[in-house]
Order: sequence, then structure tokens, then C-alpha cells
Amino acid sequence: MSKLVENIPSLELQTKHLLTIRDLSAGEVFGLLERAADLKQGWKEGYAPLALANKSVALIFEKPSTRTRVSFELAVVQLGGHPLFMPSRDTQMARSEPLADTARVMSRYVDAMVVRTFGQDTVEELADRGSIPVINALTDRYHPCQVLSDLLTVQEQLGGVTEPVYCWLGDGNNMAHSWIEAAACLGFELRLACPDAFRPDEAIMASALERGAKITLGNDPAEAVRGAQVVSTDVWASMGQEAEAKARRAAFAGFTLDAELLGLAAQEAMVLHCLPAHRGEEISEEVLEGPQSVVWGQAENRLHMQKAILEALVGHQAGKDE
Ligand code: CP
Ligand code: NVA
Repeated sequence: MSKLVENIPSLELQTKHLLTIRDLSAGEVFGLLERAADLKQGWKEGYAPLALANKSVALIFEKPSTRTRVSFELAVVQLGGHPLFMPSRDTQMARSEPLADTARVMSRYVDAMVVRTFGQDTVEELADRGSIPVINALTDRYHPCQVLSDLLTVQEQLGGVTEPVYCWLGDGNNMAHSWIEAAACLGFELRLACPDAFRPDEAIMASALERGAKITLGNDPAEAVRGAQVVSTDVWASMGQEAEAKARRAAFAGFTLDAELLGLAAQEAMVLHCLPAHRGEEISEEVLEGPQSVVWGQAENRLHMQKAILEALVGHQAGKDE
């Protein structure tokens, strides 16, 4: 066992589920970041703790995925557990078996469910009705695991996550919502620029502001980007919004993160994109492939953050036979 991985006591979280970043305290986010960094280093040296030995994790996906599916599946394997990938269309969920029944049955078989779906109420119901941890692998409302691993990338590049000024450009979508919650949790400054018709959810904004979050929301990309150290964007039409893609392309005109816009950011500002990217829409080819883009390392970090999350949420649960 790598000394690095072995010596640091692994983190236990207060929450049973990870459905939103609001489930975590700031200290827990810092703990996950520290642990993910150590797990990454340990894995590069060839080691991982067998925190999921004799445990199984179901990955129930109702939407497509490359990064989230592969990183969670491999994270379970690297921690010594058994992943089961279950496209929901191949399950009885697709034939209207109630979520409550699915949750209770899966709880008799596996030790956790990683779920990608449409409604946040789906992951909430699975969590309420089952007896095992549920991890949100993306809903229409949030993408918490992505933003946690994006913070790992910021930490690696800039040495910390609370000092930089962050900018979010484009759609007020699931990623924007999780960034807003991260800003409220950790206290960093976040500036969002979204077209008026595509602003983030008002309740999510209001809740963050009530907690003292340093967030501004406008519709001017240049104003939001100016001086920022971390510039993040995402597709204009998320999964499930394909029919709106054309109308959205028109509505988001002026929001492309191109070299001119990035030139307003801090010198050597880092560019994040959760991927998949649509070159020439929300981000130019030049910026995505340019020296300030860290998107490939950002994608790699999903693997190590998923391990930290799984270890903390599932590794500490008593196994099925205990
Ligand atoms: N960023 C992300 O969640 O990618 P996938 O849709 O490929 O999982
Ligand atoms: N907002 C995007 C993120 C994809 C990882 C979507 O929901 O499709």
C-alpha cells in the first residue's frame, strides 16, 4: 500500500447520499479534495485502498455518458469493488416499475447506486425509499461530482480553491447550479453571465445568497470574464434539450468563449469545460485546444474524485453480510 494513501485516514461524511453539493460542509469538500489528490498520486504509484472490497455499486444511467460512466466504473474497480452498469432503458424502470420498488430491491443487492437521470426528484426518491447511499451522477438540476472534480483541477493548477475568482458563461444549467452551490459552500467569488432567458434557477440563487455567497449574475460575458482566474462554460443545449438546440444557438449568440473574450480574463486564467464540447458554439476550437485549457486533465480528475466520494460514502458502510 502506498504510504500516501495508507497514512491519511479516509474521510467519513455526515451525509449518507450525495445528491447536491449542499449535502456537504466546506470542511468535507476540502477533505474530499485532499483525499482525491492523494488517491490520484497513490494510483500513479500503482496503489489504491481496497475500500470497496466485497461491495457492489450499481450505475443506473437514464442519459448518455462517457466520462461519468467510465470514471465511476473504474473507480469502483480500483477500490476493489464490483460495478454494475445498468442503462435504465434495459431495466424494469423503463416499463414503469415504481422507483420505490426499484430502490428497495437494489438495496437488497448492492451497496450504493450512482444515478444519472432527468429529475432531481428521481434521485431523491431512490435515496428516500432505499437503504443504501445514492450518488447523483447528473440530473437536470445538478452535477455535483463534476464540480467537485473541477475543484480538484483548480486546486492542482492554482494551489487552492477559495482565492480565485470564478466565472461561469452561458446556460444557467445543472453545472451552473452546482457551481453556485460550491460558491455558497466554500465562499469563493463567482460571476455568472447568462442570457436573460437562461438564468439559473431563482431559488438556488436565493438560497446561495442567503448563505452569504459572493455571486453576481448578469448578461454581459465581458464583464463576468474580466480578471477572472477560472473561466468555465458548458453546452448551450443539455441532454434532453436537443429539440431546442437551434433556438438556443441564436439566444446564446455572443456567449462563445473565444480568444478575444478569454483575453479579458486574468493572465494565464484557466479554462474549464466539463465536456462534451461543441466547438464554435459555447467555446472556440482555439480556446478549447489552447494553452489555457485544462479540459483533459479535468476529465482525468473525475476518476480520482469519484474514488474519494465512493470511499467516503460507501467504503464506510457496513457490507451486506456484516
Ligand atoms: N462531463 C460529463 O459528465 O461527461 P459525460 O456526459 O461523458 O459523463
Ligand atoms: N449540462 C450538460 C452537462 C453534460 C455533462 C448536460 O446536462 O447535458
